[in-house]
Amino acid sequence: MKKKNLDWSNLGFEYIQTDKRYVSNYKDGKWDDGSLTSDANVVLNECAGVFQYAQTVFEGLKAYTTEDGRIVTFRPDLNAERMMDSAKRLEMPAFPKDRFLDAVTQTVKANAAWVPPFGSGATLYVRPYMLGSSPVIGVSPAKEYQFRILTTPVGPYFKGGAKPITIKVSDFDRAAPNGTGHIKAGLNYAMSLHAIVTAHEEGYAENMYLDAATRTKVEETGGANFVFVTKDKKIVTPKSSSILPSITRRSLLYVAKEYLGLETEEREVPLEEVPEFSECGLCGTAAVVSPVGKIVDHGKEICFASGMDEMGPVLKQLYDTLTGIQMGRIEAPKGWIHVI
Ligand code: PLP
Ligand code: COI
Repeated sequence: MKKKNLDWSNLGFEYIQTDKRYVSNYKDGKWDDGSLTSDANVVLNECAGVFQYAQTVFEGLKAYTTEDGRIVTFRPDLNAERMMDSAKRLEMPAFPKDRFLDAVTQTVKANAAWVPPFGSGATLYVRPYMLGSSPVIGVSPAKEYQFRILTTPVGPYFKGGAKPITIKVSDFDRAAPNGTGHIKAGLNYAMSLHAIVTAHEEGYAENMYLDAATRTKVEETGGANFVFVTKDKKIVTPKSSSILPSITRRSLLYVAKEYLGLETEEREVPLEEVPEFSECGLCGTAAVVSPVGKIVDHGKEICFASGMDEMGPVLKQLYDTLTGIQMGRIEAPKGWIHVI
């Protein structure tokens, strides 16, 4: 198969239309067989649930080319499960796990020419999503739904690649204690747009959100979880019922313990404690592991001893091991790699 002629090493995190996408429709209580289509446009009634009351959930995963030329995805079963949790919270039907895995496989296979080559630093981002497609005017769930998967080749999420970013403690809240912060719903991102535009205008790459109830504990950013390293090399990640359960974070905790022999802690992290950490990073499918060099809390600067100029040594070890597993250079735990 001949690869597309793209400048793979210089891709940003932007949408590039690929050849095929997957579509399945839910009607009268069941999903149809689903199929691939070349049509990148979605035509829906003006009153569709997604347009009126934002009834939509999504996922994000990546397809990688390994050193030996295979195309693989990383733990797509966890994306399938999380999407079911997200759908349930928004009164949407579950898209079954086996169907999800089959749909990802079909879509990536059909776009194999768009999967960036090994060593380019780029990947094929895979975006499954589901939306309420039938008309709704009183506030209620739609009766019909559409599940789709689009793919787009991407480079690093943050401009400048592995260079540490500066973020700010946001004045806005991302999620309420019993709200929807733990699911991957478009609504969580719509409400973050003003906060991220404000942060960008002020020169910051991202926001650190605090818990909405007390504004004393670290939650996450708009698109990634936090990972901290203590001075004695312990990995600490914030625990909260209102953050997205990041698959990357869960994988990093395992890698830290089982591959690198590091101690790990998943617990509440008071903002007050943050200056004591030696390294800080963001983790997620899009972010991978991105170093944070500085956090600004209303004029007060928190700088990390390791990681102002480049990724600190412990995060680098985590990054190298995780990406090694994803790209097939390091043996993966059983079930983590799904060959397309
Ligand atoms: N937190 C938020 C708000 C996200 O949007 C994402 C991206 O998916 C993550 C965390 C990271 O999750 P994952 O590692 O599963 O991609
Ligand atoms: C991902 O990491 O897959 C996400 O969905 C985050 C988004 C901000 C791009």
